[in-house]
Amino acid sequence: MILVTGAAGQIGSELVGELRARFGSENVVAGKHRTPLPEAMELAGPSALVDVTNRQELDTTIKNYGIKTVFHMSSILSALAEQNVETAHEVNINGVFNLFQISLENDVEQLIIPSSIAAFGPDTPKTNTPNDTIQKPNTVYGISKVFTELMGNYYQQKFDLDVRGIRLPGVISWETEPTAGTTDYAVAMFYGAIRSNQYECYLKPDTRLPMMYMPDAIKAILDISKADYLSLNHHCDFNVHAMSFTPSELANCIKDINPSFQISYKIDPLRQSIADSWPDSLDDKAARMEWGWKPAFDMRSLVNDMYKNLESKLT
Ligand code: SER
Repeated sequence: MILVTGAAGQIGSELVGELRARFGSENVVAGKHRTPLPEAMELAGPSALVDVTNRQELDTTIKNYGIKTVFHMSSILSALAEQNVETAHEVNINGVFNLFQISLENDVEQLIIPSSIAAFGPDTPKTNTPNDTIQKPNTVYGISKVFTELMGNYYQQKFDLDVRGIRLPGVISWETEPTAGTTDYAVAMFYGAIRSNQYECYLKPDTRLPMMYMPDAIKAILDISKADYLSLNHHCDFNVHAMSFTPSELANCIKDINPSFQISYKIDPLRQSIADSWPDSLDDKAARMEWGWKPAFDMRSLVNDMYKNLESKLT
């Protein structure tokens, strides 16, 4: 039996569908908290209230459903976390700690907890960032992700709990509209182009960040979950790379599809400083060698697919 926390979120909402298609709807519990689940997800299979900061509630859900695998997708993203340090600490640090403990106590067999490019900081080598390098993030979100990586590796080594995680870059998708991250300008730019032929970007035109299309993010999460345990040298801290681009490069690519599209810039100092502390590209040899990571989408194929899907959703 599988539990997905944060099932109403950007990644969770697509992951639940994919897991239900693979393992049967009745075997995947959609964990919700504040945001209601999409109606189709609610109707298609089991769901439960899961506030990860509430240890009792988490314990009850895991016991009631006999959960053996958890995909932990609930998290307070980077920009929101900077504005709500207490909540970010509660959810991203205490919540993760609760999950480790409850999983151990209930013989959960596997825990998948994504990390992020935010686990790196201003002292990290910026280009082709090695898997194992200086981290020292300077955001509360990044600090919580380093906690998750280190604690996950600790539970794996000390208690043989099978915890795995990848450092996701900005994830671009059209099904739900993300808002609380730093990389989300890339999604918002598509909405702007389709709705009004324009977008005002909060990052500078030359801010290069690693990005990935949702189908590749889902594939990475599922592939690492089914990788042979014995072939893993890393566990909770894999770099995964798909592409890197800047706002101005993305705008040009969108203009190839919609020549009327215009971009303008109004820099948000908070999100700019977060973006400036993150890598622009990642060395993902470890993921490629240890579990065969390989993305399917490059920038051009992402932009074409994303534009087409979002346009049909919005019109
Ligand atoms: N997309 C995330 C963010 O911007 C990075 O993990 O917060």
